Amino acid sequence: MRSRITEAEIRDLVFAFYERVRDDPRLGPIFEERLAGKWDAHLERMCDFWSTVMLASGRYRGNPVEAHRRVESITTTDFDRWIELFEKTAEDVLPPHVAMDVVGRSMRMRQVLERGIGPSATPPMDANQPVE
Ligand code: HEM
Repeated sequence: MRSRITEAEIRDLVFAFYERVRDDPRLGPIFEERLAGKWDAHLERMCDFWSTVMLASGRYRGNPVEAHRRVESITTTDFDRWIELFEKTAEDVLPPHVAMDVVGRSMRMRQVLERGIGPSATPPMDANQPVE
């Protein structure tokens, strides 16, 4: 059974997902605050991101952990809600095996992001600081 997502399916998923995100009472305003007037660019960037993660296209260049550090007030509950919406959208727009694959990747990505931005995150090494 096919589980490899196509570029067209990535677009369908990304556009449908962020439509739901924008309608969501909690997540909507967090995104709107940062992305008002920049949604088109964000959606293209997210297509590039998922195409890089799922298909190794290499189109996304960026640092998701850094990007999320800049978004204040993201909580674990927000990540739960993000995953819930992402999973529902994937199930609605993709064939089952394809959906399962991308949802699995999103859950691992969530862990990376949450650890990266969380208070327990290891601070980056600073070459100018003496090692104690
Ligand atoms: C597994 C979960 C998530 C994934 C995979 C993900 C992925 C990404 C990626 C790849 C970007 C683009 C970063 C860049 O510009 O290079 C981004 C941006 C952003 N994400 Fe997430 N994200 C997740 C969860 C969340 C959650 C829970 C929130 C908020 C509640 C959030 C809010 C944002 C915002 C506001 C931006 C735009 C940042 C900016 O350009 O200033 N994300 N996300």
